[in-house]
Amino acid sequence: MQLTTTQYQAIGKGGPFAVVSVPKPTPGHNEVSIRMEAVALNPLDWKKLYFGAMVESWPTVLGIDGAGIVEAVGEGITRYKTGDEVFSLFGHETKAASFQEVAVVPEHYVAKKPGNISFEEAASLPICYCTAGSAIYYGLQIPLPFLPDGTTSGPQPKSILVLGGSSGVGASAIQILRLALPSATILTTSSSKHHVYLESLGATQAFDQKSPSLIEDIKSATPEGKGVEMILDAVASSASQKDIFDTLSADGPKEYSEVFTGTPTLVPDGVKRHVVYGRKLFETPGGQNVMTALADLVRKGDYKIPIQVKNVGSGFEAIGPGLEELKAGVSATKLVVTI
Ligand SMILES: NC(=O)c1ccc[n+]([C@@H]2O[C@H](COP(=O)([O-])OP(=O)(O)OC[C@H]3O[C@@H](n4cnc5c(N)ncnc54)[C@H](OP(=O)(O)O)[C@@H]3O)[C@@H](O)[C@H]2O)c1
Repeated sequence: MQLTTTQYQAIGKGGPFAVVSVPKPTPGHNEVSIRMEAVALNPLDWKKLYFGAMVESWPTVLGIDGAGIVEAVGEGITRYKTGDEVFSLFGHETKAASFQEVAVVPEHYVAKKPGNISFEEAASLPICYCTAGSAIYYGLQIPLPFLPDGTTSGPQPKSILVLGGSSGVGASAIQILRLALPSATILTTSSSKHHVYLESLGATQAFDQKSPSLIEDIKSATPEGKGVEMILDAVASSASQKDIFDTLSADGPKEYSEVFTGTPTLVPDGVKRHVVYGRKLFETPGGQNVMTALADLVRKGDYKIPIQVKNVGSGFEAIGPGLEELKAGVSATKLVVTI
């Protein structure tokens, strides 16, 4: 049996990376170890690398999304067995990060990979879905009808604005909101080239975030032209667009769910702000079923791969240049690497 595994270690803040052989981790109680087939790159990875965000010590292993094959299961695991094809959210601690050959994660981070998607597509899903779900269910208390054992009562707004609809989190949020609020007016912002696509995902109407008439256009698209009841901000766009809160209806409830991005935002008095993190979703009622619910949605065709998946190469060495490309900016694109 192979006793070592390979990690793609970030040696220090800003890099470089090194491929290092380490003892292979074994899964503990309720843990699963996964041999990586594909990983997705996320803004958090380059923020950790270049700003040291959430990094306690170097060298470290990055990576919060991936898909692969179950290598071994710990005590208490009945749902998975060696050889299963799975996808998973990965963790902040080194043994649970995805930029390595074999990683160990808690069972509830994992789900069986639907047969109708590739490892690369599966790797592109978890953190954006969890964060969008958290912004909706934890931040705005809107129930998720597809989540087994989840809360079934809560607000049912008639109108909501998703800022950053073409981001991975935003495109996930549009789909989840459409499932949760079948007849609501769901408005979103992005560059114009993505409008038709975002409307196909479930947005009622998309708007160019740079339009000089953005605020009045959004308001006029809401029921009775009163404005939206809630805003979900996937990309901290309120930091650069201070008047975006003018789209909120004076009748309330003026809820603002802000995905934590590290960019400071200023929220006017009277607006109820909820800063959210993807992993909070696991702490909500039904939280243990978050990932298996995603797999079911994808299997049934009720949830699409939110943004196009672009493969930037094969092998760990493709990750570093991929993170550079991500940091330089992407548009409705999730970068992935085949391991
Ligand atoms: N706290 C957490 O748990 C958590 C988890 C995941 C992500 N995040 C954070 O959430 C943010 C989004 O992550 P992501 O992976 O979804 O990002 P992403 O897909 O890489 O975001 C790129 C997209 O953002 C859009 N965008 C940027 N500024 C915009 C603005 N002012 N208005 C409208 N659209 C705008 C761009 O749209 P166009 O190209 O159409 O202009 C582009 O498609 C990142 O800051 C990330 O670090 C936090």
